[in-house]
Amino acid sequence: MSTASTRPPSSATSAAAMNGPQTDPLQLIDVDHVRFYVGNARQAAIFYAYAFGFQIEQVCDLTTGSRDEASWLLTQGNIRFVLTSALSKDHAAAREVALYGDGVKDVAFTVFDAAKAWERAIKNGGTSAQEPVTVTDDKGSITTASIKTYGRCVHSFVSRSGGYDLVKVKQGGVFAPRFKRADAPLINEHNRANPCGLKYVDHLVGNVEMGKMNHWVAFYENVLEFTMFKHFDDKDISTEYSALMSKVMASGNNLIKMPINEPADGKKKSQVQEYLDWHDNAPGVQHLALRTDDELHSIAELRRRGVDFLTLPDAYYEKVWERVNTMLTQHGHAAVREDHKRVRDLGILVDADDEGYLLQLFTRPLQDRPTLFFEIICRRGSQSFGKGNFKALFEALENEQERRGNL
Ligand code: FE2
Repeated sequence: MSTASTRPPSSATSAAAMNGPQTDPLQLIDVDHVRFYVGNARQAAIFYAYAFGFQIEQVCDLTTGSRDEASWLLTQGNIRFVLTSALSKDHAAAREVALYGDGVKDVAFTVFDAAKAWERAIKNGGTSAQEPVTVTDDKGSITTASIKTYGRCVHSFVSRSGGYDLVKVKQGGVFAPRFKRADAPLINEHNRANPCGLKYVDHLVGNVEMGKMNHWVAFYENVLEFTMFKHFDDKDISTEYSALMSKVMASGNNLIKMPINEPADGKKKSQVQEYLDWHDNAPGVQHLALRTDDELHSIAELRRRGVDFLTLPDAYYEKVWERVNTMLTQHGHAAVREDHKRVRDLGILVDADDEGYLLQLFTRPLQDRPTLFFEIICRRGSQSFGKGNFKALFEALENEQERRGNL
């Protein structure tokens, strides 16, 4: 069982930075943040705080001199979400929310030198979304630069020093210029007393158009120098009615894994095609998988808060323990240690491979459009994505599509 590759992104950012000059400009230190474009960041912050246990930490808005956009920084464990709304119709967030609804705009990586990372990505064939910009003030210095990926999404490179160093941000320091601490909302106290236990972003799945999966696989290989981690074809991921194909790209140090899905032909509409239909036919992020060390605790707490999860038929639990425990025994691993009845009562899914097992559960879409959702995942050795659950899961998703009139 290998856990080293999936250890939470380093809390030793500064220690790594002090190891001397870096020769690989695309070495990723951490997921700096995930930025969402939303219709109303103030209200979205309340939703993610109450439903998912995020702390409302910092804000950047008119009161801090930001005239064109408002952003809220939410944190939990080593997860940083930035929720951004436009303050005028001409801001990109206003245009994109009109086209796609609320969703992920930027998966930003902390690097040693954002300008060098950007230069390397451009040299590798990437397209710039923003050239390097450095802001220095009395707190420190921060450099950002971005490249385009699928659809409206970008990857920003962020390098930080002084007070903006990521280690300091994790300790409560100011996230970026023009941010200030949000007035301590009561929900933060509640969340500290009732944690949901989400630790970091495990993986992040993109849905792309039919025939485009290999194009984006090549993009991650060539531009960001990722490697292929796993792939699944339509025989792995199909039901009687619908299908998709998926390849998993991983950063050099496995800091982040990015599966890329494309729809495949089936008798009825693929879940990926439904996403595209409600996303102005543009590719985008389908789900963020958030890692917990205790799936039962996290799911129980999230359910208590009213989070809406996919439900699977009871028949799923008639077969799952034999399937999973047989696989674990074959490979010399101990059986699933979580209480089987509680797993079933909480509606959690279980899967195993040669390295161990995992527990996972998927929310329903987080907004009215059937686009972005979250996965809550706990790994006990398995580095896979729940292949054994695909069929049961996709049948459940088809039921959802049916309910929405989209099958
Ligand atoms: Fe996933």
